[in-house]
Amino acid sequence: MTKNIGQPASWQLAENQVTDEAVYHSRRTLLKKLGFIGAGTLLSTNTQAIDWFSSKKPQVFNTSPLTFKAADTSKQTLTPESKVTSHNNFYEFGTGKSDPVKNAQSFNVDPWKLSITGLVEQPITLDYDDLFKRFTLEERIYRLRCVEAWSMVIPWIGFPLADILKQAKPLSKAKYVAFETLYDPKQMPGQNSRRIGGGIDYPYVEGLRLDEATHPLTLMSVGLYGKTLPAQNGAPIRLVVPWKYGFKSIKSIVSIKLVDKMPPTTWNILAPHEYGFYANVNPEVDHPRWSQASERRITTGGLFARNRIDTLPFNGYAEQVAHLYKNMDLTKYF
Ligand code: MTE
Repeated sequence: MTKNIGQPASWQLAENQVTDEAVYHSRRTLLKKLGFIGAGTLLSTNTQAIDWFSSKKPQVFNTSPLTFKAADTSKQTLTPESKVTSHNNFYEFGTGKSDPVKNAQSFNVDPWKLSITGLVEQPITLDYDDLFKRFTLEERIYRLRCVEAWSMVIPWIGFPLADILKQAKPLSKAKYVAFETLYDPKQMPGQNSRRIGGGIDYPYVEGLRLDEATHPLTLMSVGLYGKTLPAQNGAPIRLVVPWKYGFKSIKSIVSIKLVDKMPPTTWNILAPHEYGFYANVNPEVDHPRWSQASERRITTGGLFARNRIDTLPFNGYAEQVAHLYKNMDLTKYF
């Protein structure tokens, strides 16, 4: 078997289906020509996303351009921005994939307060501006694979969670990190109604082992496609853990707490036999109601385009993270 010279690492491989995220690339080329991309910094234009289902509802949530260290997108096959921002799971704003973009547009994220507490030497509180100024922002092109077997490739902007944790200085007793989403039923209709909110007991909570939380791939994201996060994607700050199913990537976070015991997590509380604490992407462990062996990559072709590809262990990031689970039975710890 031959191998292409210069083949990227497994997690960077461009997928075999065709996507043209022409807008992003040409915008970059143009900005480069205009001299805006220099010294690793990208200033992005503020474009309006279009609802890709029907173009009925233009996006009005106020996103603004970010300054960040840009990644090399040349080998990447990106999911178009209009799809990233209109096909979402954010049950606080409804359970339908197009509910968040419709219902989250008046979500107020400034002022915001994110606290880092618990078993730390130095508790921290970040306000809205801190989220964008206190840490070095960089672009990370990550796949996000939802447990429902669709996936996207997204140019996230953020900083490693490890950067926050370093500043807070976890005590040696700290073994896990517990995350919590904003609880504000006035703003989040799903928190007011079990029907709209899918029967979840809010606030939405998630957790990671401390070694997972401090892994360099684990990102606190404050933006995508060059701008601050749209409300429906978890503004102003959300987690992205690229080797785990999408539900671990908790949105609109207000609390990060270092704890000594495995914290409860929303989907595990709701259906423990279907959703485990670890939730590592694993094509060999099926969801009780469907296979996890393949996924539909969302591209330019629309929801029903035939872009089915094999799912990779740890979502393609095995080289980086498999060692975290050495000697663990992953069918038991799913
Ligand atoms: N975070 C909160 N607070 N509420 C949610 O309903 N949904 C999760 C995750 N984070 C969810 C959440 C699920 S199931 C997925 S697949 C991802 O967000 C989707 O992220 P995206 O809409 O930005 O693609």
